[in-house]
Amino acid sequence: MQSLNLDPTGPTAPVQVSAEALQVVVMGVSGSGKSTIGALLAHSLEIPFLDADGLHPQSNIVKMAGGVPLTDDDRWPWLALVGEALADAGAAGTGLVIACSALKRVYREAILQAAPNVRFVHLAGSLEVLGNRLEGRSEHFMPPALLRSQLATLEELQADEPGFAVDIDQPVLDVVAESVARLAAPALPASVWIAVGRGGLPVVRVDGAAGAAEVYLQGAHVTSWTPSGGAPVLWMSAVSDFAPGRPLRGGVPLCFPWFGALAADPAAPGHGFARLSSWHLVEAGEQGDDVVLVFRLTDSDETRSSAWPHRFEALYTVTVGARLGLSLRVRNLDTTTVTFEEALHTYLGVPDIHDVTVSGFEGLPYLDRLAVPQEQGSDDGPVSFSSETDRIYLGTDADARVSDGAGRTVTITAEGSASRILWNPWTAKAAAMADFGDDEWQAMLCVETANVRDDAITLAPGESHTMSAVITA
Ligand code: BG6
Repeated sequence: MQSLNLDPTGPTAPVQVSAEALQVVVMGVSGSGKSTIGALLAHSLEIPFLDADGLHPQSNIVKMAGGVPLTDDDRWPWLALVGEALADAGAAGTGLVIACSALKRVYREAILQAAPNVRFVHLAGSLEVLGNRLEGRSEHFMPPALLRSQLATLEELQADEPGFAVDIDQPVLDVVAESVARLAAPALPASVWIAVGRGGLPVVRVDGAAGAAEVYLQGAHVTSWTPSGGAPVLWMSAVSDFAPGRPLRGGVPLCFPWFGALAADPAAPGHGFARLSSWHLVEAGEQGDDVVLVFRLTDSDETRSSAWPHRFEALYTVTVGARLGLSLRVRNLDTTTVTFEEALHTYLGVPDIHDVTVSGFEGLPYLDRLAVPQEQGSDDGPVSFSSETDRIYLGTDADARVSDGAGRTVTITAEGSASRILWNPWTAKAAAMADFGDDEWQAMLCVETANVRDDAITLAPGESHTMSAVITA
């Protein structure tokens, strides 16, 4: 069974709707791939698939076989049957995907009358794209005039109809992946959409009044943020992996429930499982000029069999606007006290690391992770960079002000965070990392908002903790 977060009632109480309750109509004109994509979508959701053609009453089949076009009066009983099949599947808890052209709004309303919980997935393509698809299908001859007339009949889904359109001008498996991700998502405002990003990974794209951003569902990983009228603030490696279960290099990896390597289990993934896990988008809305997204991760069989086997709920709020807000709330759902580390591992883009200074940490002690044994240091003035740097400042929530040497200052303020990390791999380490370009170290600096080591968070059962960062550029 695939469990989807559908119809959340709020960040603290998302309703888990299983795929078995899904009633989906894959709609579109002939040649849009309804049968193929519908079947693949059903397979992916692990629920049955039906082609609505198989539900026509005998009288319609006789008409069609004789080349007589169907009238709407012929269609109503058929559409009622389509709706009934969907409603029955919903009630029986089997779920169902049906391929049905449903070109007109009245047809969709007829289906909805029988099955009010239906979602429509419109396979949308231009005349050109559809024509090319049909040409490649030897078993399916459709004169161009007929395709044009189908497109003329098509009434696209309106904002008040349940469902969404997916562009078919992309590989079939990407159409399926996008449909699965969007069926799992809440209603989205116009400034937010879900697409298939690099490596076939689902990505939430935001184009808000005050800023634009991209967040991959894998790791709820913010890979870009650009305030309107400004330049991109976050750095991504040009050679980052974009693959299921592989960390992304750059943006804001979300480290949880441990930071770095886990001493107790060297085979455990560095920086915890959260950055490799598939998060659910449970809320998306606009607040003034800001776009607010809420992602959710809970324990699973996989996390419970990891080095951190606890029950938890993590809610990650990403606010995209003139500032980027990142807020991670972790709730202990276990029956025992739990301890965890966490970090918003923010990669900032800089013109040249040699010219960068970071102020806010003057006089504060840091642990030098590169010294053996690790030793303490501190700076009287702003931090500058001339070699590999890997420092942890503990017990401080100081604002970090990063001057890039070219006129821009990025400020990161923190709340609920007592650790700060500064990291730049410099030459040798960059060269040793497969997912990091040899020269890319010059263009980035990590300034992390965290709770690690002695600042790790301990929560009694039922307790929660929130750590937030606000980035201003
Ligand atoms: C930093 C650590 O936070 O992350 C570094 O302080 C580490 O020690 C860096 O190398 C990158 O980690 P990863 O696992 O993404 O390569």
